[in-house]
Amino acid sequence: MTPEIVLPTADNIARAAALIQAGALVAFPTETVYGLGGDATSDRAVAGIFAAKGRPQFNPLIAHVPDAAAARAHVAWSETAELLAQRFWPGPLTLVLPRRAGCAVSLLCSAGLDTLAVRAPSHPVAQALLRATGRPVAAPSANRSGAVSPTTAAHVAATLGPDVALVLDGGPCAVGVESTVVDLTAGRPTLLRPGGATREAIEAVIGALALGPAIGAPGALHAPGQLESHYAPSRPVRLDAERAGSDEGLLAFGPAVPGGAAVTLNLSPQGDLAEAAANLFAMLRALDRPDIARIAVMAIPDHGLGLAINDRLRRAAAPRPPGMLKLG
Ligand code: TXA
Ligand code: MG
Repeated sequence: MTPEIVLPTADNIARAAALIQAGALVAFPTETVYGLGGDATSDRAVAGIFAAKGRPQFNPLIAHVPDAAAARAHVAWSETAELLAQRFWPGPLTLVLPRRAGCAVSLLCSAGLDTLAVRAPSHPVAQALLRATGRPVAAPSANRSGAVSPTTAAHVAATLGPDVALVLDGGPCAVGVESTVVDLTAGRPTLLRPGGATREAIEAVIGALALGPAIGAPGALHAPGQLESHYAPSRPVRLDAERAGSDEGLLAFGPAVPGGAAVTLNLSPQGDLAEAAANLFAMLRALDRPDIARIAVMAIPDHGLGLAINDRLRRAAAPRPPGMLKLG
């Protein structure tokens, strides 16, 4: 079954916005590539995006907003961000900034990081959809993981199935490569992914960019999310737990949960992997308390979204470099 493709009339944009508000996924055109959009404030919707893409890992997603004013509600804005937004927004530039305290965007959208990527796309259909939706829209490129990014509505329908409620057909994308990703959370602004806004044009505004680890290397960007240390809670993590000690916090899964833990949170009492993905980062954070010795995690089935969940859990449980150990 392929998703329904419609023209971006005012009625259909209103319908798409209502679908996103209700937690469904809508594919929409941007000037770079088509995005697979869902409510960025909903853990469930964001988990649905990962499921629809068949992503083996939770890479952090971009939260799409209509303009800088909307972005500032979610991230700690800076002078450099302001300069870049004034020059490139709306347009093919994504800025990685610290999440604001109380940021309403799902932690899953940030893949558990303290940072959030924000972008204001210039495509008129994207602009209309974002304004009608009235909340940030998480949107990776609208292709299955491993497939080429889609630049037409037909590309989207060719690789994504009925998980997508609607595809807004805005014609072929003008830019055709993804947005440039610049990290403003490091000491120096760092180019994480080359894209629609050129390095030269960015450097003309803010000076020399540092280059992220994967620039020039074949394959995908090494987002900070792919570095093990970024996923380490301060408490040690023990995997495949079949029972729990009274000094442990238990991250449970499914209906059969051993008793005895100091505190237990269940990723999904029904054993639903999408629900577990939606809860993963928030529950890991909630269990990362000074009054427990370690976090014990029950086994998660290693299929579907379970692959991405287990990837993250293995990183959380990996031995820490000595400098990483946090006390208390
Ligand atoms: O042009 C685009 O950016 C398209 C359209 C739909 O807007 N979107 C897109 O999303 O390409 P996606 O998920 O395919 O790529 C997002 C990139 C990834 O390389 C991801 O690692 C990086 O942005 N990213 C997102 N959040 C990040 C964060 N907090 N820190 C570092 N990198 C981040
Ligand atoms: Mg992509």
